[in-house]
Amino acid sequence: MAEITRKIGLSLGADICWPLCYEEIIRRLDLVLPVDGDTVRFVVERVTIEPYGLRQPCPYTVVLDRLTHWYHPSREWIKKAVLMDDLYVLNNPWSIQSMEKQTTYCAMMRLGLPVPDTWMVPPKEYEPSPDLEPMLRRYARLFDIGVVGQELGYPLFMKPYDGGAWVGVQKIDDDEQLRMQYEGSAKRLMHLQKAVAPFDVFVRALGVGPQVRLVRYDAGAPLHARYEVAHQFVDAEEAALLTDMTLTINTFFGWDFNSCEALRSDGVFYPIDFANGCPDSQVTSLHYHFPWLIKALVRWSLFCAATRRPMRRCLDWAAYYEIADRDLPYREKLADYARIARERLETDRFEEFCTRHLSVVDEVVWDFFGSDTARDAVRSKVEALYPEHELDSFTEYFWDKIQQWRADEHASSPA
Ligand SMILES: Nc1ncnc2c1ncn2[C@@H]1O[C@H](COP(=O)(O)OP(=O)(O)O)[C@@H](O)[C@H]1O
Ligand SMILES: [Mg+2]
Repeated sequence: MAEITRKIGLSLGADICWPLCYEEIIRRLDLVLPVDGDTVRFVVERVTIEPYGLRQPCPYTVVLDRLTHWYHPSREWIKKAVLMDDLYVLNNPWSIQSMEKQTTYCAMMRLGLPVPDTWMVPPKEYEPSPDLEPMLRRYARLFDIGVVGQELGYPLFMKPYDGGAWVGVQKIDDDEQLRMQYEGSAKRLMHLQKAVAPFDVFVRALGVGPQVRLVRYDAGAPLHARYEVAHQFVDAEEAALLTDMTLTINTFFGWDFNSCEALRSDGVFYPIDFANGCPDSQVTSLHYHFPWLIKALVRWSLFCAATRRPMRRCLDWAAYYEIADRDLPYREKLADYARIARERLETDRFEEFCTRHLSVVDEVVWDFFGSDTARDAVRSKVEALYPEHELDSFTEYFWDKIQQWRADEHASSPA
């Protein structure tokens, strides 16, 4: 019987609030778990950026990564550690690097999900290069973008094929606007996508391992109020469908942590944006839902670290394609994809692990989110975003939402 300490690394950029909360909760839990005859403890450390030898060992069992999509030194260090040191990382860095929005649309269309019709158009302008002109002269066909607009119908959305954070996203209502916006898109490679309009529900489904939380979203509200505090805004069958959809998407792409956006129109949920491998995790967006996210990250990362869950390095799509090619209704296919997802995520083993070893997490997290430390963490995030004169009011606003969550939690599970 050995005494083992497993290190969990946080690979961070501008994140402020969630790492503070995560670290303090792991510290308060102070877990000592019997795992396969050993005694296992956990420590959390922030990953630093410095030169490294490719054969240098990685001290972490699990890394929660927020940098791969834009900071290449960390991405390459993580890839090295997965290849050479059996690191488990949220999320698969190769998948984040190569699966843009376009690829994810194509894959989910192939599996039968109702992604709205989408076209890609060549960019309006190019960076000059010696080969560009001969290539375009030979192969680029003159086209009328208005014809694509007509094909899709209005309104439609023009948005980058690899986008995020709403950058470059435009709603377009007619031919004239389409031509104008395309002119303005310059070197950006754009999609035109049929709008889901009108829609009556916008859902963001947060997935962490096998855990999914559905949050109603109001894209038109100011930043602090987009995630709504709403309960039972979909029925049980819809909740099951959105959960299956989220788990399918996440396991197909090897994302342990993702946020899937879907819009409901005429009773159908259309997924519109689900390549979000570094989802919004800020208390200033999530407020009421923030403690759920922290708890889900704590549980899943401890499970992965304690059991040394092997990283699925290759994505292995054959099982999904086999189901896609069967002659089955969409809902049955989705249930079958989700069955694969739940197996790949070891859902039963995870739940058993939580019951056996993590039953204290609910209470520790609940207590923590009433503490001065939690309040200070919220305040430091607010300080990074808001002007001086709004610091008190916004700290209070987000703190109140967290206290509302605590009250609702206690009401739903009396001690
Ligand atoms: N097909 C669509 N139908 C309706 N609204 C859309 C559609 N595509 C995008 N939107 C709106 O634009 C926002 C940003 O588009 P999205 O694809 O989510 O880009 P990003 O990756 O930048 O978040 C969405 O949250 C939604 O409000
Ligand atoms: Mg989006």
